[in-house]
Amino acid sequence: MSDRRDFFKKIGLLGLSGIATKLVSNDQLSALETLGNQSTSSSPFTLAPLPYAYNALEPFIDEQTMMIHHTKHHQAYVTKLNETPSTNIDFLVDDMTKCKHIDSTTSAVIRNNLGGHVNHTLFWTLLKPNKESKPNSPSGKLAEAISKDFKSFDEFKKQFSEKAAKHFGSGWCWLILQNGKLMITTTPNQDNPLMKVAEQKGNIIMALDVWEHAYYLKYQNKRADYIANWWNLANWEKAEELYQSR
Ligand SMILES: [Fe+2]
Repeated sequence: MSDRRDFFKKIGLLGLSGIATKLVSNDQLSALETLGNQSTSSSPFTLAPLPYAYNALEPFIDEQTMMIHHTKHHQAYVTKLNETPSTNIDFLVDDMTKCKHIDSTTSAVIRNNLGGHVNHTLFWTLLKPNKESKPNSPSGKLAEAISKDFKSFDEFKKQFSEKAAKHFGSGWCWLILQNGKLMITTTPNQDNPLMKVAEQKGNIIMALDVWEHAYYLKYQNKRADYIANWWNLANWEKAEELYQSR
């Protein structure tokens, strides 16, 4: 809360209204404001900071795109969720489990915004900086499984790139694990393969956001170029972690 009048309303609620502004430094005011937010907030969803700087994914994804994507698009899903009653979704369980309860009776506002929040939260962790453009491919158990199920990593890249490029409109491309087998699938809008509404369900191993907001500033309408550059940033260590935890 940046509005000073509202802030003092908050510290009043905390029983701190006797503190005079002249006696409190800016740093102390800031700390009190944080305390006030924590103590009076009832919002179940929050936007976590990115695990890297907004410019860390350059030259493949630019700083402005990352900043708008995180602080405007992802923030909007979080804000909308906090304004919306939970309907048939239990907001107390973890976010992945919440997704598993989304079915055809779930309201569009919950389906879209919960999906948007969960998908982006995961997506940020499935990206990693690669300033030096080093070769980037999976290793370990996931690499073995990709070679087994797609013949080779290059063949997997080809199939994933095609599927992501051809997905009509906004959505996501996924590498999922379904009954022990890796598969590539896409979902529309902010759906994901955990949801009951997904045509192909499975545990998420890798994710690619193919909404235009993810690439339009740098790549305009050239989604294929965005995808080709994204391979440099795919966080295969995180994907391996997801694979081994299934
Ligand atoms: Fe996005």
